[in-house]
Amino acid sequence: MTDARTTTSTDDLPHGPARRRGPLRAGERVQLTDSKGRLHTILLTHDGYFQSQRGSFRHSELIGRPEGTVLTTATGHQLLALRPLLSDYVLSMPRGATVVYPKDAGQIVQMGDIFPGARVVEAGVGSGGLTMSLLSAVGERGHLLSVERREDFADIARGNVDSWFGGAHPAWDLRLGDLADVLPDAVEPGSVDRVVLDMLAPWENLDVVAEALVPGGLLIAYVATTTQLSRFAEDARATERFTEPQAWESMVRTWHLEGLSVRPDHRMIGHTGFLVTTRRLAPRTTPPQRTRRPAKGAYSADGEWAPEDLGERTISDKKVRRVRRDIHRRAEIEQSGMASQPGVRPEAGADLLRHPEE
Ligand SMILES: C[S@@+](CC[C@H](N)C(=O)[O-])C[C@H]1O[C@@H](n2cnc3c(N)ncnc32)[C@H](O)[C@@H]1O
Repeated sequence: MTDARTTTSTDDLPHGPARRRGPLRAGERVQLTDSKGRLHTILLTHDGYFQSQRGSFRHSELIGRPEGTVLTTATGHQLLALRPLLSDYVLSMPRGATVVYPKDAGQIVQMGDIFPGARVVEAGVGSGGLTMSLLSAVGERGHLLSVERREDFADIARGNVDSWFGGAHPAWDLRLGDLADVLPDAVEPGSVDRVVLDMLAPWENLDVVAEALVPGGLLIAYVATTTQLSRFAEDARATERFTEPQAWESMVRTWHLEGLSVRPDHRMIGHTGFLVTTRRLAPRTTPPQRTRRPAKGAYSADGEWAPEDLGERTISDKKVRRVRRDIHRRAEIEQSGMASQPGVRPEAGADLLRHPEE
């Protein structure tokens, strides 16, 4: 492509697209795929040598060649060489904490509306998996403040992020500490566009986040369990500083594609986490009244959990009495071997075989 877009100034920036294009260079990461689909990630060096069960080659044989080159090793095996995509890198890089899966990082960037030039806060940083997607989205003119309370994790994250971008990203400010302590000193009140929380107890930071966000600013939290999700949503409502929380999860099912055998793969990542967003109300504004009332019993008054608190359908006492009667009659029939006793319905006990919600 030789149009004007290839010669814009972003090409010259150290973190711009230029370093992800062109012939393979020494110092770059390359992903090799063998004929069985197995992946090997190597760092190309002038004097490097790759060795595996599928054969070996000198790195210099790849340097200067285009991405998508297929090498044939001395043992006759073929290896396809490509630069890893961000999603490949996140799943193969060294980790301290569990990373946000690429499918969820995509949701966070899109549904969190992380825009070029945005001022974003992220905590915790963990291994830096999500950090790279956030930095790519805000770009060099945006700002990402990432807060991590574990020094060892922050160190791993810095290594991973710097390695991906080929140096320190100019929009990134990584701070060590607890978000609740760091945030008030690090940003002006009402100056942050987006906050992304990936931590055990995001509800503990609702007040500092509310102070930091601009009116209309968005908070997105990533939690692993329904109990965290519920606590976050209820605590966010209780602050009266945020809009109604919206929650969802995403499931991605990969497909097997071969001739006539086109079907979903047998295995999938069944669960990663839930996402929940809410937006900052204007100062001194209370949330609008909800016209749709919460489901009956959704908030139990005595702190006890009843089936209806969880949205379960309940069975009436009358129905339970009938089921019990039927069970006793069925036992009598089983013992006597007689179906036609006076007052005994032949289908007695059949209710037990039905799903309670039918
Ligand atoms: C699951 S990891 C984050 C993973 C990261 N998003 C990634 O994609 O690599 C959660 C991190 O939050 C950090 N953390 C938990 N509570 C925190 C807080 N209040 N302030 C700062 N960091 C916190 C933990 O130390 C941990 O590293």
